Amino acid sequence: MGIPPTFLSANKLLFCLCLIVYSLEGFSSADQHTHTIHVATLLPSSVCTSSAAAQGWDINSSISLVHKHGPCYQLHQHKPTPAEILLQDQGRVKSIHLKLANANNLGFTNAKHTDLPAKDGSVVGSGNYIVTVGLGTPKKDLSLMFDTGSDLTWTQCQPCVRFCYKQKDPIFSPSLSSTYSNVSCSSTTCTSLNSATGNSPSCSSSACVYGIQYGDSSFSVGLFAKEKLTLTSRDVFNNFLFGCGQNNQGLFGGAAGLLGLGRDKLSLPSQTALKYKKIFSYCLPSSPSSTGFLRFGSARISKSVKFTTLSTIPQGESLYGINIVGISVGGKKLSISASVFTSGGTGAIIDSGTVITRLPPTAYSALRSAFRRQMKQYPMAQPLSILDTCYDFSKYSSVRIPAISFLFSRGVGVPITATGILYDNGISQVCLAFAGNSDESDVTIFGNTQQKTLEVVYDGARGRIGFGTGGCP
Ligand SMILES: *[C@@H]1O[C@H](CO)[C@@H](O)[C@H](O)[C@H]1NC(C)=O
Ligand SMILES: *[C@@H]1O[C@H](CO)[C@@H](O)[C@H](O)[C@H]1NC(C)=O
Repeated sequence: MGIPPTFLSANKLLFCLCLIVYSLEGFSSADQHTHTIHVATLLPSSVCTSSAAAQGWDINSSISLVHKHGPCYQLHQHKPTPAEILLQDQGRVKSIHLKLANANNLGFTNAKHTDLPAKDGSVVGSGNYIVTVGLGTPKKDLSLMFDTGSDLTWTQCQPCVRFCYKQKDPIFSPSLSSTYSNVSCSSTTCTSLNSATGNSPSCSSSACVYGIQYGDSSFSVGLFAKEKLTLTSRDVFNNFLFGCGQNNQGLFGGAAGLLGLGRDKLSLPSQTALKYKKIFSYCLPSSPSSTGFLRFGSARISKSVKFTTLSTIPQGESLYGINIVGISVGGKKLSISASVFTSGGTGAIIDSGTVITRLPPTAYSALRSAFRRQMKQYPMAQPLSILDTCYDFSKYSSVRIPAISFLFSRGVGVPITATGILYDNGISQVCLAFAGNSDESDVTIFGNTQQKTLEVVYDGARGRIGFGTGGCP
């Protein structure tokens, strides 16, 4: 007995539809799962493409944000090479690992970290992005490195009793401001420096003196003080607590100091919590020649931002913890267990000052294999410092690289922008911009290269952190 003709044709039709759907999917996935990069765009631009950068700050609780070494900041100083930046970055990561390892060992020195100073209250301030804020009355504009990995905001101050490094703006002079006052060293405010800096404050003729050192032996010491802080014309804070540094040294690259965006009670989000409810967001631009933003409060958060859990790192309370559950390369999820990212109980943090994302060794090697497999057609190049997967693109005008996405808890998938996947030292040495930690138990760090162009929203009050794509050019 034959099959009824109607059934046959229906079956055929179904088969055809399947084919169409299948091929459509195949087409779109090829598009979503790779990025085409025009190699010429990897070359540095000498022109700042944004006019907002020049004016430094604008309205609606939003300040423009620029790269420290790009044409939008125009600091005429030694510009570090990519290898030097990666070396500094390794210093920052080491100090974060050391801080958490020491804390986890309840003060006992971890044998594998004995090469670093044991007493280290904070992480190195070699972050790469600059914002301009106003301090004092009349207001003086100061360009500060912003840092989600530390808490105390400080700037170099006159008189530079011991030493001030060279900075772009004139050094802040408290004696020229009518709103400056010292914090008394007998006050509880002075004591709050203990947790924000990791050091006990001291006294200088009853004025409170802070000291903060960073992992690379950079430091700032000076008067702990109150001053009027002007973020934008609508966002002005009286009696903002900050460090007026009279002895400062280190890799601050011409910035006037540091803006501390951590979670301690002396950080900027905590001090302005009444107005902004510990909500701030930023977008790091795709290149040093474009401009991003730093915003306070919830007013202009994009509807497309998706929120994942903000967690706390044991003994690293001022750091922003995130839960990474997976990574995909070229549209395919790496076959590693989510527990890889929490091994050792340390978990992961997001950090504005770490340049390259650090993954557990197992996760990194899976990422690297998948990436290399899909990049087979391109000639490889020498490793660049901590980056071991580099390519020579000098014979190509455009290249196709696999897309990479991070998956966070609550089902939040975040695609990394093309410029966030690569870190280059010219077109003949373009590297996969990820590195492995040396130990599975070291904290995973989601770094600033991978955050480029994302709108990243920190919501300290509601314990969540959000990501949206296309936040800035
Ligand atoms: C600032 O906010 C106001 C009110 O929300 C809005 O009308 C205006 O367009 C905003 N300005 C900018 C530059 O975004
Ligand atoms: C702050 O304290 C320092 C050191 O004791 C002192 O030299 C300075 O005059 C004080 N400034 C004010 C405004 O009280």
